[in-house]
Amino acid sequence: MLLCIPDVLNAQEAKRCREATLAADWEDGRATAGPQSASVKTNRQLPLESPAGAALSETVSRALLANQLFLSAALPLRILPPMFNRYGVGQTFGAHVDNAIRRVRGVDATIRTDLSATLFLSDPESYEGGELTIETSSGAQAVKLPAGHMVLYPATSLHLVTPVTRGERISSFFWVQSMIRSAERRTILFDLDQTIQDMQARTGPADENGVRLTGIYHNLIRQWAET
Ligand code: NI
Repeated sequence: MLLCIPDVLNAQEAKRCREATLAADWEDGRATAGPQSASVKTNRQLPLESPAGAALSETVSRALLANQLFLSAALPLRILPPMFNRYGVGQTFGAHVDNAIRRVRGVDATIRTDLSATLFLSDPESYEGGELTIETSSGAQAVKLPAGHMVLYPATSLHLVTPVTRGERISSFFWVQSMIRSAERRTILFDLDQTIQDMQARTGPADENGVRLTGIYHNLIRQWAET
């Protein structure tokens, strides 16, 4: 499932984040790429250990944990601290699949990347190219969202960023290890949760069927979750 989540940051917050990244020192994006990815990647990244990188990462993390749609779709067990990248004119990231396991910087821990996410920070009118193109079962989908909006997609997907031909594309990206490893099961739980919420908005939270369906939702998580 490829899901676009609007307003993870509002336009003002996205602008503030974007401006804060511009004041920071950037490094070559190949610093965090494996050998295959490094051969097709030309961009810059904000070092996570820098004060600006750490503070911005914290801002995005807080926004994620407050976003009900993200929590419902990802059912996160662990979230890798969000990072930031920047594509200027001519920069691109060719087709690749993200590494399955990533080390969490600064601590002795790894996460399995079940979901990939890109949070757009640049206004789409401010640059050309720079589409995130994700291969799905119904063909390639090009994603370019308003500043503050995010796309969440299975980390198993082949994807690329087309070359930027004007302006600059700044975004945040990160990975999630979900409590629910199977993408199919995550989709079932997301559909059920959204249906319950939609129903309860009309019937109120005390409706007997809503209470029963909520019980079924939690019992499925009990069956399927890894914690
Ligand atoms: Ni990638």
